[in-house]
Amino acid sequence: MTKNILEIQNLTVKFGAFTAVDNITFSVEKGEIFGFLGANGAGKTTTIRALCGLVNISGGKMFIDGEDVSKNTEKLKNRIGYMSQKFTLYSDLTIKENMLFSGALYMMSAKKILERMDELFEYVGLKENPDETVKNLSGGSKQIVSLAASILHDPEIVFLDEPTAGISPVSRKLFWDLILKLSSGGKTVFVTTHYMDEAEYCRRIALMQSGKIIALDSPKNLKRQSGAADLEQAFINFLDKK
Ligand SMILES: Nc1ncnc2c1ncn2[C@@H]1O[C@H](COP(=O)(O)OP(=O)(O)OP(=O)(O)O)[C@@H](O)[C@H]1O
Ligand SMILES: [Mg+2]
Repeated sequence: MTKNILEIQNLTVKFGAFTAVDNITFSVEKGEIFGFLGANGAGKTTTIRALCGLVNISGGKMFIDGEDVSKNTEKLKNRIGYMSQKFTLYSDLTIKENMLFSGALYMMSAKKILERMDELFEYVGLKENPDETVKNLSGGSKQIVSLAASILHDPEIVFLDEPTAGISPVSRKLFWDLILKLSSGGKTVFVTTHYMDEAEYCRRIALMQSGKIIALDSPKNLKRQSGAADLEQAFINFLDKK
């Protein structure tokens, strides 16, 4: 059995005449924190949506734990968690109601959802009252509840699309503590971010530009290859080369 949980071969996604993801090939190992970086519009979200079976691909192949995503979308749904870049909780519902809704999408019983919710609250250290309405939560707590909702069904791999956008540095740190905890528990985390301090936590990073992957390596190697002292400069150097 491969140690790669994710294999992407020549993935291409087009919207009409526009190519959003342009023939990308890479793999992600089980248990790794894999960072996906790139400017706005680079194609990060589209790649994630393709991996979750949510957009029609124009070419290439994607495998999750050896299973072809295009052929086994339904079967794979239970093994994938997805926290969308767009806020997807229902603001007018309580935390608990949101969890019941999310869990129902995975055919979990209400009893199982509530048990798992308690377990996850403990795991993520969330002190909020489950009967609190989501719109009353802080930005940081909302993102943690979103994360909890996306891993309610205990997926092996979770796609987090800019999970820390717009939250405070303290909340970002708390969120990353959870990502590290998920990874050390054996889960694979595929995460996009525009924050370079967060990118440093990733085992490997892919840098995307105009639908293509222009660099992929550990933070340390990316810095070394580009002769930069920090990741921000490393990325500027890679982008300049193109
Ligand atoms: N459904 C769609 N129809 C047409 N074009 C789309 C669609 N979805 C995305 N695009 C375009 O594809 C390109 C890549 O978008 P994508 O959302 O994947 O970028 P991104 O790297 O996630 O950017 P950001 O950092 O802003 O989230 C953009 O030019 C976007 O406008
Ligand atoms: Mg995006």
